[in-house]
Amino acid sequence: MKIAVFGATGLCGKNLVEVALNDGYGVKALIRNPTKLDHIKHENLEIVKIDIFDVDAVSKQLEDVDAILSCLGGLPTWRWKKETVYSTSIEAIAKAARKANKKRIIALTGARQVPDPEGREGWFIRNFDWIVMRPIMDDMMRMESYLKENCQDLDYTVLRPTGFCKTEPWTGEAIIVPDVYFRPEDSLWIPYKKVVLLMLEALKENKWVKEHVYCAMPNGFDKVEK
Ligand SMILES: NC(=O)c1ccc[n+]([C@@H]2O[C@H](COP(=O)([O-])OP(=O)(O)OC[C@H]3O[C@@H](n4cnc5c(N)ncnc54)[C@H](OP(=O)(O)O)[C@@H]3O)[C@@H](O)[C@H]2O)c1
Repeated sequence: MKIAVFGATGLCGKNLVEVALNDGYGVKALIRNPTKLDHIKHENLEIVKIDIFDVDAVSKQLEDVDAILSCLGGLPTWRWKKETVYSTSIEAIAKAARKANKKRIIALTGARQVPDPEGREGWFIRNFDWIVMRPIMDDMMRMESYLKENCQDLDYTVLRPTGFCKTEPWTGEAIIVPDVYFRPEDSLWIPYKKVVLLMLEALKENKWVKEHVYCAMPNGFDKVEK
């Protein structure tokens, strides 16, 4: 199976490329800066420099892939700024997918897009989200609405992970709950490698189709017993 990967130069995307290649997938990385993947050499990796918003160019590149996985995203920024990469990229990707006759899209947004009504994130996280996460969270919400309202003809999955950490190994299974933004009983962190594995699980097992699922780890997942 061959997958197209958007955001393949980011923290999660690079890991997705490596894990997918090791798993036997063909990978086409659709990126704006190919030198960022210079460190990965593999016969099943194709690197294409592309403007991800160019629907015609992207659709041509999607013709020979079976599924589209996106780790695209923006960075935290001051709350008065506007982020658009989530909503504009998903619109371009969905249009390109239809043009290339492809249906399966697995993409990432994030947890806590809506503040917990009871403020159970805690003072620090709540203020951090308010000050620098609001622009990306607002655009994640626009992206998810676009999928829900305009892409019911596509087999999309949105994963909403909590904050990424590097922890490895870990104990316990991820907690997957549809249509939830936050659960106070879970850890605020998830290994980005686990998120990559969940993306590939969604693909292999055709799971969570047309669902927007919160992904977290149980508290204490990072305390591996010897
Ligand atoms: N990091 C976290 O703690 C966390 C937690 C929950 C959810 N998430 C979500 O998970 C996803 C991946 O996160 P990450 O930490 O791996 O992100 P990241 O390291 O910031 O990577 C973002 C990727 O998106 C690409 N990108 C951004 N704007 C682009 C544009 N205009 N054109 C082409 N490519 C563009 C970047 O390309 P360049 O390398 O060329 O800049 C990079 O490959 C994001 O959606 C993020 O919101 C992250």
